[in-house]
Amino acid sequence: MKASVFIATSLDGFIARSDGALDWLPEGGGEPHGYLEFMATVDALVIGRKTFETVLAFPEWPYGTKPVIVLSSHPANFEAPPGTVCTIIDATPAEVVDRLAVQGMGHLYIDGGVTIQRFLAAGLIQRLIITRVPVVLGTGIPLFGPVARDLRLTHVTTRAYPSGLVQSEYRVPA
Ligand SMILES: NC(=O)c1ccc[n+]([C@@H]2O[C@H](COP(=O)([O-])OP(=O)(O)OC[C@H]3O[C@@H](n4cnc5c(N)ncnc54)[C@H](OP(=O)(O)O)[C@@H]3O)[C@@H](O)[C@H]2O)c1
Repeated sequence: MKASVFIATSLDGFIARSDGALDWLPEGGGEPHGYLEFMATVDALVIGRKTFETVLAFPEWPYGTKPVIVLSSHPANFEAPPGTVCTIIDATPAEVVDRLAVQGMGHLYIDGGVTIQRFLAAGLIQRLIITRVPVVLGTGIPLFGPVARDLRLTHVTTRAYPSGLVQSEYRVPA
C-alpha cells in the first residue's frame, strides 16, 4: 500500500484561512499542475471531517465515484451525500490502511491538515506533493503541526509553473 499527499499551500504553509476559506487558491484549480494525472492513479481518498465539511459546501462532490473514507471521532453525526461512494468512520491511520488494503486498494490520497499529520506520525505516507501558491496569508490552518521528532524528507523534484505555482515532490523515507 502506498499513500500520497497532493495539496496546495500558501507560501507561509497554510492550507486554508483560519475560518476554512479557500478563496486565496487560484480560481478553478488554477493552471493545470498534475492534479488530474495524480487523481487517475488514486484508488481511494482518506479525508478528515473538516475537509469533508468543506467539500460538502462545493456545488458538486469533487471525487466522482472514487471511494472516500471520512475520518471523525463522531461518525454518527455525519451522513454520506447520496450518490457518492463515501464512508464515515472512526479509525486509526493503521486501521484505515489495513481495511483498504484488504479491499485491494493500492494507492491512497490522504487529505486535510490534521489527517495528514496523523498519517505522517504513523509513518503511513510515502510521498508528498506540495504546490505552493504565491500568497502570504499570515495566519490560517497549517499543513504541518508539532512533531515528536524531525521528519526528514527526500526531495524528488520541483516544478515551477508560469502562473507562479511552485510544486515540490518529496519522498518520505521508510
Ligand atoms: N489547500 C488545500 O489543498 C486543502 C486540501 C484539503 C483541505 N483543505 C482545507 O483544510 C481545512 C481542514 O483541515 P484541518 O487540518 O482543519 O482538518 P482535517 O484533517 O480535514 O479534519 C480534521 C478532523 O478529522 C478527524 N480525524 C482525522 N484523523 C482522524 C482519526 N484518525 N480518527 C478519527 N478522526 C480523525 C477529526 O474529526 P472530529 O473532530 O470529527 O473527530 C479531526 O478533527 C479545511 O478548511 C479544508 O478546506 C485545504
